[in-house]
Amino acid sequence: MLDLHCHILPGLDDGAGTPEISLEMAALAADSGVTHIFATPHCNTRNEQKNFRGPELIQAYTKLQEAIDSHGIPVKILSGAEVLARGHFEDHLDAGDFMTLNGSRYLLVEYYFDESPDYMERCLRAVEDRGLVPVVAHPERYYCVQNAPELAQLWSERGRVLQINKGSLLGDLGPMAAETASLLLRRGAVAVIASDAHHFRFRTPHMGALLEHLERRFPEVDPRLLLRDNPLRIARDQALV
Ligand SMILES: [Fe+2]
Repeated sequence: MLDLHCHILPGLDDGAGTPEISLEMAALAADSGVTHIFATPHCNTRNEQKNFRGPELIQAYTKLQEAIDSHGIPVKILSGAEVLARGHFEDHLDAGDFMTLNGSRYLLVEYYFDESPDYMERCLRAVEDRGLVPVVAHPERYYCVQNAPELAQLWSERGRVLQINKGSLLGDLGPMAAETASLLLRRGAVAVIASDAHHFRFRTPHMGALLEHLERRFPEVDPRLLLRDNPLRIARDQALV
């Protein structure tokens, strides 16, 4: 499996606080069958750590990979970021400030939970106008999608990639997120499920409970497509089926 969304880089956001925590997360992911983790620190947030493209970020991926390798953990780190659509989003797009997923055409985009559908659409178009494909991080967590899931379905129909969170399906992120994620999954609008992990004790990158949940509650869903094939196509900069 490939985990498309994970806050595993140490000290860059509210995810792993230390390199030791990053290693615990990598080992936990590997134990559950994850072979590749896209390291996607928050980017363009209000705080001081913007995590824009640059040598610091590149060094962070490399350093973590070296530590993972030296501990014999069978996991490859792929580059990425979770870009918050806010502020001077379009200017940063023009400047090439955002790390896409493994250098592909795919850009992982998140919004404030109470963002308006109009602004969301404007940002999706801004991404597409620059030749990139937006991957919408956890649509099930946005209030407008919870109130009207057909909004996210429409995104999917228009070629935007929907990535829901493991924790949403498992009910860890509230009943509305659980209900909305389940509905989008049943309607075939979801392309990827990822961990959005922040630690090894809570919001973890272990996929075991998710796979059991999918088998029990969503027998019609093929987990290989959402957890392996689609993220692999993204890593290879290929079109999704
Ligand atoms: Fe995230």
